[in-house]
Amino acid sequence: MGTNKENWMEIRKNLFFPTLTPYYTDPLVLVKASGSRVWDDSNVEYLDAIGGIVSISVGHNHPRIVKKIREMLDGNVIQHTTHLYLTGYMERLAQRLAEVAPGDLGKCFFTNSGSEANELSVMTARVATGEQTIVALRHAYHGGTGTTLGLCGHGTWKFRAQPPASIVHALEPYCYRCPFKATRGNCDFECAADVKNVIETTTNGKIAAFIAEPIQGVGGFIDPPVEYHKRVFDIVKSFGGKYISDEVQTGVGRAGKHFFAIEESGVVPDFISMAKGFGNGAPIGACIAKKECADAMTGKLQFNTFGGDPYQAMQAAEVIDIIKEENLINNAKVQGDFLKEGLLALQKDFPIIGDVRGRGLLLGMELVKDPKTKVPASDENAKFLNLTRQNGLLIGKGGLKGNVTRLTPPLNITRADAQELLSKLRKSFEMI
Ligand SMILES: Cc1ncc(COP(=O)(O)O)c(C=O)c1O
Repeated sequence: MGTNKENWMEIRKNLFFPTLTPYYTDPLVLVKASGSRVWDDSNVEYLDAIGGIVSISVGHNHPRIVKKIREMLDGNVIQHTTHLYLTGYMERLAQRLAEVAPGDLGKCFFTNSGSEANELSVMTARVATGEQTIVALRHAYHGGTGTTLGLCGHGTWKFRAQPPASIVHALEPYCYRCPFKATRGNCDFECAADVKNVIETTTNGKIAAFIAEPIQGVGGFIDPPVEYHKRVFDIVKSFGGKYISDEVQTGVGRAGKHFFAIEESGVVPDFISMAKGFGNGAPIGACIAKKECADAMTGKLQFNTFGGDPYQAMQAAEVIDIIKEENLINNAKVQGDFLKEGLLALQKDFPIIGDVRGRGLLLGMELVKDPKTKVPASDENAKFLNLTRQNGLLIGKGGLKGNVTRLTPPLNITRADAQELLSKLRKSFEMI
């Protein structure tokens, strides 16, 4: 397929919001994908180690999903209804979700995105408690809509026109740059105590909810000790709040061990928000809630034109089945452990790698100019991103200062993929 990159860049410049920027100095045109691989318009192959944008869970164009889509199209299955009609697709997906959801979470509402899922978790928590205030974390990312941008703790993503109504922020559980100057494994979880402090000092003493990602994604894979979330959960409960786990990046087993990363903390949240890898690239999100929370919405009507659409719902249900049948949570753990060891070995050879963190197939490296001063190596990370592309590897970038390399390959990568990923990273570090 021929492309006209210059022309498309002109169109991007002239016809799109200026907030939309492609990765890479010389933007990449992608035309084909299969499993962990994507191809550009010159048929150059790349290992996709960011998995779309943390959205490819079971691999690009998984054959089973492709087959189902074909069958649906061939069978003239209704392409779009709304949830005003019954189709069986969203009902089947709800059953699948109830099976994998922890504790008594089981009532769900399907959306088109993670932002909408979070909007709904927040609104339902407010309705269920009769309170307004939401406690979020600095360095968090929860979406691009009004309320979710208010929840974000990242100046990069905020705009002037965005009043953070009834939202307060606690300090980030960022061990590498601890805001309390404590050391991981040798602290009193001052960051968890800050949630209490924020509630006591900035609210009326009651909150609607606390929202957090088990591992902060856009924030640069900030991965606090798992006990952090249990401690915060207990604090949140003592103030009558609901606990919302934003699993848009960490869900569907990406962190290894469990379907949802929050489970590793021994916490059963009141809400889980999902999207990204949930649909393996299909635009579907979900808010899953405890029965008593969802039932607090009784008496009003709610509508979402595309939420639970047959094609998207089918793909998400297949994702859950594939993850189970192909034992992908275990694969995320096994390949993730192997990769993390490899990253730690790279850190020994390349002092620019200040920190290696994350779990399962959600791994990050924070680049610094000097491991002692920890000055963020933002320009170097931008250069590194371009070098990896040159070496046939797609990775992600994140962190407040843009100095964190993010790795989130599909959950079904092989050992050979993981080895290739590490050797391409090494080659790119050698060129930096
Ligand atoms: C943790 C988290 N929550 C919510 C969102 C918003 O999801 P969406 O872009 O699908 O609205 C994102 C997107 O990156 C995310 O990473």
